[in-house]
Amino acid sequence: MQCFVEADLSAWTTLGVPARAKELLVLEDETDLARWFERRESAPMPELVLGGGSNVVFLEDFAGRVVRLAIRGRELLGEEGGARFVRAAAGEPWDGFVRWCVTQGWGGLENLAAIPGSVGAVPVQNVGAYGLEVSERIAWVEGMDRDTGQTWRFSGNECGFGYRTSRFKAAEASSRVITAVVFRLAGDEPPRLEYPDLQRWFGGRAQRVSPADVYAAVREIRARKLPDPRVQGNVGSFFKNPLVSPEVAERLAAIHPDLPRHPQPDGRVKLAAGWMIERCGLKGVREGGAMVHERQALVLCNAGGATGADFLALARRVRETVAERFGVRLEVEPVLVGREGVVQRLT
Ligand code: EPU
Repeated sequence: MQCFVEADLSAWTTLGVPARAKELLVLEDETDLARWFERRESAPMPELVLGGGSNVVFLEDFAGRVVRLAIRGRELLGEEGGARFVRAAAGEPWDGFVRWCVTQGWGGLENLAAIPGSVGAVPVQNVGAYGLEVSERIAWVEGMDRDTGQTWRFSGNECGFGYRTSRFKAAEASSRVITAVVFRLAGDEPPRLEYPDLQRWFGGRAQRVSPADVYAAVREIRARKLPDPRVQGNVGSFFKNPLVSPEVAERLAAIHPDLPRHPQPDGRVKLAAGWMIERCGLKGVREGGAMVHERQALVLCNAGGATGADFLALARRVRETVAERFGVRLEVEPVLVGREGVVQRLT
């Protein structure tokens, strides 16, 4: 276990904003969990568990302990009815794990290629991209209660998955820590190519497309649209795509016929927030060092020297402008952290 006091967190998040924590623990194997629990008892303080740091925004210094779960390991647990059950520890880098599965010939996760972050973080916000949500592939999630030390296990159905949410997101600030995720990868599913970008890429060639082809295509599509966090700090989408009633969607469509709209199974309609932000003329707009990305307006990026306060100011400006123009309220997607811990909403 590594321990840093008055730790600079900028290198531990993909946004790269300056913020300090009283203490940073990096847990590298299972035995470190016990060391962490001892430390919790001897020096109690607010805590925040961090995976790859790719979906968190530190708005200011955090008056507590940040625990980075860096426990690695991946294995094939077994096969059942043609499906493979593959387990990955929470600290496995997500994209490396997806690539490893594809290389073994196990398709199922390739639409989620090149997403920054760690395995333990993907169930929290039910990561989704290019026509797939990770909840569709999760058999169960394993973890531990940090107050009692008890282990737990939730099947996919028990995880409360929804669009960019789960029971783990709601409990972000509470005592549940994810230590591993088990994926169910069916051997016989056709490639998932309905997403418009993938349709354009493969042009109807679904028959001969392998998981490795989809993995490579998604990597390339993402690289064209989304900034690489190693080059320009970002947390992917800063806002969720809003879900509105069919009446609201129709009213908006009458005024803006080309606003992308996606009816959902529950009757609501998902609107493209990036499109609305772009239409407000906000691409490239800055508050301090924080900037609305010039190719993908749903992404706010660190154009150099940005602080958490810059991102807060920019996010408010985007939200207010979109609300004025479209009457739709955008919700922030990443986890916002203030001095005392997780801040549930953008106020
Ligand atoms: N659009 C614009 N202007 C923009 C951005 C988007 O007009 O600046 C339009 C696009 O042309 C398209 C529609 O909006 O018609 C949707 O855009 P895109 O396919 O790029 O996806 P998105 O809705 O902007 C979502 C996810 C991404 C994921 C992509 C691809 C959310 C909040 N975001 O973005 O996830 O990679 O779909 O599936 O659902 C993330 O969560 O961090 C993330 C990057």
